Amino acid sequence: MPEDRAAKGAHGWETPSPDATLWARRDIFSLAGWAGFAGVVGASLLAFTRFMFPRVLFEPPAVFLADRPENFVPGVVDERWKKSERVWIVRKEDGSFYALLAICTHLGCTPNWFAAENKFKCPCHGSGFKRDGTNFEGPAPRPLDRIKIAMTPEGLLQVDKSAIFRMAPGNPEAQHPQSIMRV
Ligand code: FES
Repeated sequence: MPEDRAAKGAHGWETPSPDATLWARRDIFSLAGWAGFAGVVGASLLAFTRFMFPRVLFEPPAVFLADRPENFVPGVVDERWKKSERVWIVRKEDGSFYALLAICTHLGCTPNWFAAENKFKCPCHGSGFKRDGTNFEGPAPRPLDRIKIAMTPEGLLQVDKSAIFRMAPGNPEAQHPQSIMRV
C-alpha cells in the first residue's frame, strides 16, 4: 500500500513521526526538570534536618571529683588523673594542694613526671619543669598552668578545669597564691 511505504523508510524501517520525536524530547526534559526539582527539595530537606539537629561537640565535663585529702601522700605528685583529665594533683609537705595542667607550655605535648629526678620532662623538645611547675630547661617559655582545686561539702577534692591559673614566667605561687588549697 502506498501509505505503508510512506510510513516506512527506504529499508522498510519505521520512521518516527516528527510529533513522536518532539514528545520524546519533551518527556526527557520533563524528567530532567522533575529530577532537578526533587534534588533541590531533597537538599533543602537535608539542610533543614541538619539545622534541627546541629552537630554539637559534646565535651567532657570540666569539673571532676578526685579523692579525699587523706588519700594523697604529702610530697607526692599524684598521677591518677593524668591520663583521663591531663591533670596532676600535688600534695605539698605542709598538707596543702595544687593541681597542674599536664600540657607543656611550649607546644602542648604531655610531659611525664620523673619522681627520681623530681621533675616533669616533656618528651617532645625536652622542656623540664620543677615540681611546682616552674620551667627550668628547654624551650618552654613559662611554668605549667595550674587549675582551681577546692573541697566539696562531702570532703572530696574537686578540680575545675575551666578555671585555669595561667602562668607567666616566674614563680607560680607568687603569681597565683589562690592556686593553693589549704586544708
Ligand atoms: S612541646 Fe614540650 S618542649 Fe616542645
